[in-house]
Amino acid sequence: MNVKQLAAEKAVEYVQDGMKVGLGTGSTAYWAIRKLGERVSEGLKITAVATSQASEDQARELGIPLVNFSEVDSLDLTIDGADELDGSLQLIKGGGGALLREKIVAMGSTRMIVVADESKAVKTLGQFPLPVEIVPFAWEWTVADLIKLGCEAELRRSGDELYKTDNGNYIADCRFGAIDSAAELALSLQRIPGVVEHGLFIGIADMAVIGKTDGTIEIIEGDSNL
Ligand code: A5P
Repeated sequence: MNVKQLAAEKAVEYVQDGMKVGLGTGSTAYWAIRKLGERVSEGLKITAVATSQASEDQARELGIPLVNFSEVDSLDLTIDGADELDGSLQLIKGGGGALLREKIVAMGSTRMIVVADESKAVKTLGQFPLPVEIVPFAWEWTVADLIKLGCEAELRRSGDELYKTDNGNYIADCRFGAIDSAAELALSLQRIPGVVEHGLFIGIADMAVIGKTDGTIEIIEGDSNL
C-alpha cells in the first residue's frame, strides 16, 4: 500500500474544472501531480503554477497547463506535502528545500490541502529539524543568530557542496526539539535579517488528508487531537 499515493489521490478529488491550482513539491505531492495529469488527460480543465523546478518539469511532461505568476493573481487550491503536521494544522515544511516557493504559493491560494502519510502527524512539532532558508551573504552571522534562539543549526549539504535552493540561498536545518509555541518561534525567526523564510506554516493549511498503512484516510479540518 502506497500511503502517500492514497492521500494524494484523495486530495485531487477536491480539484474542479476551472480551478487555478498550486502544485506542491516532494514525494507525496508527486502523486498528486501525477493524478492531476491523469485527470487533465481525461478532460479536466485547470491551470497550474509549480512550487519547484522538479514539480514544474513533472507537470509539463504530463500536459498540465502551466501559467506565469503575471497571468494569475491568486489560486483556488494548493496541494502540498509536509514534513510534520500537528492537530491544529501547523506544519513544518522544507525537507525538500522548496519552502519559500511553497509558502508564496500556499499563501496566494484560497485553500491549501496538506497530503501526508501518518508518520508525519505529531502532537508537537519539532522532531523534524526546522528548515530555514537564509541568504549566503554573512551566513555565519545568521546561523549564529539562529543558534541564539535555542537550536542546533547545520547548513544543509548536497554531496561536497553546500545545498542551494531554487532561489540560490542556503538552508539551515535547525533542531529545536519540541516547539511549544510555533507562532512565537516564527516571529523570532522573521526578526533575523539574513532569514529569507522559515518552514513553519501556521494558519495556512485548511485541511490535511492523511494516508494510513491500514488503507484508511483521515481528514483533518480545524483542530483535532492527533
Ligand atoms: C519540500 O520543500 C517540502 O516542504 C515537502 O513538501 C515536504 O518535505 C514533504 O515531502 P515528502 O512528501 O517527500 O515527504
